[in-house]
Amino acid sequence: MIIAIDGPASSGKGTLARLLAAHYGLPHLDTGSLYRAVGRKLLRAGGDLDTVATAEEAARTLSREDLDDPHLRDEATGDAASRVSAIPRVRAALLDYQRAFAAQPGGAVLDGRDTGTVICPEADVKLFVTASAAVRARRRAEELRARGMTADEERIRRDIEERDRRDAARSVAPLKPAPDSHLLDTTNLGIEAAFEAAKAVVEAHCLHRTAVGRPPEKPAGL
Ligand code: DC
Repeated sequence: MIIAIDGPASSGKGTLARLLAAHYGLPHLDTGSLYRAVGRKLLRAGGDLDTVATAEEAARTLSREDLDDPHLRDEATGDAASRVSAIPRVRAALLDYQRAFAAQPGGAVLDGRDTGTVICPEADVKLFVTASAAVRARRRAEELRARGMTADEERIRRDIEERDRRDAARSVAPLKPAPDSHLLDTTNLGIEAAFEAAKAVVEAHCLHRTAVGRPPEKPAGL
């Protein structure tokens, strides 16, 4: 079973993806971490985020070390990721890895911006997770404070809105719900309630598939 979860920054999609993967015993890929690793690698190398060939090379040569960089979740890295993710050749360089991850036997859970639209349009279950910008900024500020950092919620909200605009406006693989995705608005949901709602969507899908795929009952007497 492939579960594709998309949505804007801090909507809760990453946490839901992790919980669903653990619940169903599936491997999980946070596709945003690939773009973050490319952005971070370019920042480390001097901050040139706009030269297409350099950005593409960074994407093609991502290593385990790049993916384990302790600054992957920093705000500056998130901003760099949003910028490099608008470069079509960077997206193309990361495509095969994501598709192969989704295609492994037994399936997988992927979360990002285009997992249901571009990476695995054939996914069994697609969720599009949203929440208001104000709630997402509060969650992000709490996450930063929990890591001992200071957080200006108003500035974070402006950054989130700017990133949403950039992710949704780019010409290639923009942030948008797949037509067959289930919308899950977590503005007023805690993580447990959101997880229950997501599980209900997956289970409704599985039941539907069983009902549709079940062979017709044999007529009595045969
Ligand atoms: O989900 P995140 O904040 O870790 O993602 C960082 C950036 O990467 C985000 O601004 C957009 C980009 N991204 C993308 O373009 N496509 C994906 N599938 C995942 C992330």
